Parts: sequence; C-alpha cells; structure tokens
Amino acid sequence: MAFEKLWRLSNEKKSRLILAVDEDRALENIEDLLKEVGSLVVGVKLGFPAAFNLGFSRIKDVISDRRDEFYFLADFKLADIPYIVNLTLLKLKDIGFDGATVHIFQRGLEEALVGNVPEAIGIAAMSHNSPLLDREFIDSLNYAKKVGIRGLVVGALKEDLIAEGKRRGFTIFSPGIGVQGGKFAQAIKAGADFEIVGRAITRAKDPKEVVENVVKAQREALKI
Ligand code: XMP
Repeated sequence: MAFEKLWRLSNEKKSRLILAVDEDRALENIEDLLKEVGSLVVGVKLGFPAAFNLGFSRIKDVISDRRDEFYFLADFKLADIPYIVNLTLLKLKDIGFDGATVHIFQRGLEEALVGNVPEAIGIAAMSHNSPLLDREFIDSLNYAKKVGIRGLVVGALKEDLIAEGKRRGFTIFSPGIGVQGGKFAQAIKAGADFEIVGRAITRAKDPKEVVENVVKAQREALKI
C-alpha cells in the first residue's frame, strides 16, 4: 500500500496535517516545535531552508529521534538527470526521509525511481500561478502513473486539479493553506488527502492552537 506509514499515523491521530518547517526561527526550535504539535501533526516537510539552517547531519538526528511519530517528507523538488535524481533520493533515504518530492516535467523517472528510495511524490501543479505545469497536468499524471508514482502535490486553490488527481487514484498533497490564501480544510473539502501548512503555524504566537484549528476543520470536513 502506498504511503502506509503516513496513513497509519493519520488514522491514529485523526489528522491530515503535514507541517512545513522552513523559516529560521522555527528551524532553530524544531525539536520543541515537533514535541508541541506531535499529537496532531502526521508529517513534517523539510526542504532547502532546513538543509541550509540545520545541515543534513542535524536533520538526520531530528528524524531518528521522531521517526515513529512523523512521516518525514523531503521537499527538494528534484528535476535533474535520472542518475543524479536517483543518487539524491538514495541519500535522502539514508538520512531517514520516508517520502520525497520530484518534478515530473523533466521525465526520466523510470530510471530515477529505482533501489531503496523514499516514496516519490510528483509535483503536478503549484499553488502559485504555474501555467506551464497546469497545461501539462493530464500528461504529467499519465506519465506519473506509468512510472509508479502514487502521490501528487497539487496547490490547495486548484480544486479542479485536485479532484482530477483524486479521480485517477493518486494521494493528493496540497500546500497553499494559510499564508498563501487557502482556508483550513479547503483542500480536504476539494478531495485532497493531506494539507501541507507552514508559516500559518510556525509564525503563530501559539502554533499548537493553529494546529488544533486546522485539524478541527479537517475532522469536520471529513466527519471523523
Ligand atoms: P506555507 O508557509 O505557505 O508553506 O504554508 C507551504 C510549504 O509548501 C511548499 N509549497 C509548495 N510546494 N507546490 C509545491 O510543491 C506548491 O504549489 C507549493 N506551495 C507551497 C513550500 O515549499 C512550503 O514549504
């Protein structure tokens, strides 16, 4: 089953929330932040800002301390030649990441997604204006399916694309909630499986309170 760990945690915590930790202040206190929100957050997304701030060796420690509690998603939106994407994915797996985002447009993923790599999540449509990706959406999904990709990133405000991705059987991850304009649970209502929220939580005076509000809205939407 795709994303088995993620779904297990999601069912246990009754939450569809993945926390993106990007800004320095949040990263500097990441251990405390994860402890505070652990009961309601199912995944943690880290990308270049985290790599610059913490370095991969500290990221590895953070993951190994909490690997049973969270699904760790590496968000580097990889788009290099297949050999390098594969090499990078193998290293991300070594660090402990469960999943990793990859671009689809560059193709070559049949060679990149081999060996013991994290679960791949394809970037299908950005939350900001991304006409080139959106135009290629259906082709991207056909290709993603062919190479065994089971998850897609689709911006929270692109509700038609979320629904289309879902219809084709993908697990949908939607960023764009909060600071980028999406309302809590908006993507879930459109059919997304997980919402990725960053600054609306990490910048809050009381991050736990925002997490509670997001998850409450999700539970209401899903009637769970
Ligand atoms: P905020 O702070 O806006 O950040 O809640 C959300 C996180 O999600 C990422 N992000 C995206 N990733 N397609 C992506 O692949 C998108 O459309 C998109 N929008 C936001 C961003 O990197 C941040 O960590």
